[in-house]
Amino acid sequence: MDAATSPRPPAAAADWTIPQDWARYTPDEHAMWDRLFARQQAMLPGRVAPAFLDGLDVLRMSRPGIPDFAELSERLMRATGWQVVAVPGLVPDDVFFDHLANRRFVAGRFIRTPDQIDYLQEPDVFHDVFGHVPLLANPVFADYMQAYGRGGQMALARGMLPQFSRLYWYTVEFGLIRDGDALRLYGAGIVSSYGESLFALDDPSPHRIAFDLQRVMRTRYRIDDYQQNYFVIDSFEDLLARTAGTDFAPVYDALESLPDIEIDTILPEDRVITRGTQAFARRRAAG
Ligand SMILES: [Fe+2]
Repeated sequence: MDAATSPRPPAAAADWTIPQDWARYTPDEHAMWDRLFARQQAMLPGRVAPAFLDGLDVLRMSRPGIPDFAELSERLMRATGWQVVAVPGLVPDDVFFDHLANRRFVAGRFIRTPDQIDYLQEPDVFHDVFGHVPLLANPVFADYMQAYGRGGQMALARGMLPQFSRLYWYTVEFGLIRDGDALRLYGAGIVSSYGESLFALDDPSPHRIAFDLQRVMRTRYRIDDYQQNYFVIDSFEDLLARTAGTDFAPVYDALESLPDIEIDTILPEDRVITRGTQAFARRRAAG
């Protein structure tokens, strides 16, 4: 989600959706999906939230090839009333929020090339569909995503989009969740990345801090490398209650007078789960 960098392409509808054109994928493109899928599927059990694996199963996503959005949407509709629609790339914020508020998840339809297997700038169909869609089959997470879309309209009106976007970043994209004494992955940016799926749980570098709505909305993030901070929720129910169940007006009033928090800062009031060394980020910064 972000501001669009170009005007709506002529082929797109008013809501920016385009046909997926599933029949146009080449064998090489399907093979790229299968390669990425196999690598994540072998590594994620025991690391990812069980609800994610349930979603793969319910949606029959382990079948070979790039999923056909129409068929995927049928299964998803039966599970939670969500659909997956194709868009040409990043869409304007209000369009993005409107889709989520109406239980439509917008996904890119292109797939990365072999030289982009570990890093690409714009989300492709593997990130968007493998990363995001399984959890949309979970009723509580599905409600959270819709609530996020509804909240977006208010954030826009209040001029609080940067802060509100951090909520998405640190939950939907890069969230961790407790599972008994262990931590598990659920953010799409992590689960669709081989490297970050290992780093986010195992590396001593990043901080892992208990989720707090206001804290998260004040915290900057990086888009160019593995995160320096992960925020940990107790459960999807808890996340839903702390966001959809919250009146954001007083939160925004408070945020207006509070400074942003730098990426690697730990505050005295934080509930720290692991205090990171930040060694990875420092090594990268040193080149
Ligand atoms: Fe994403």
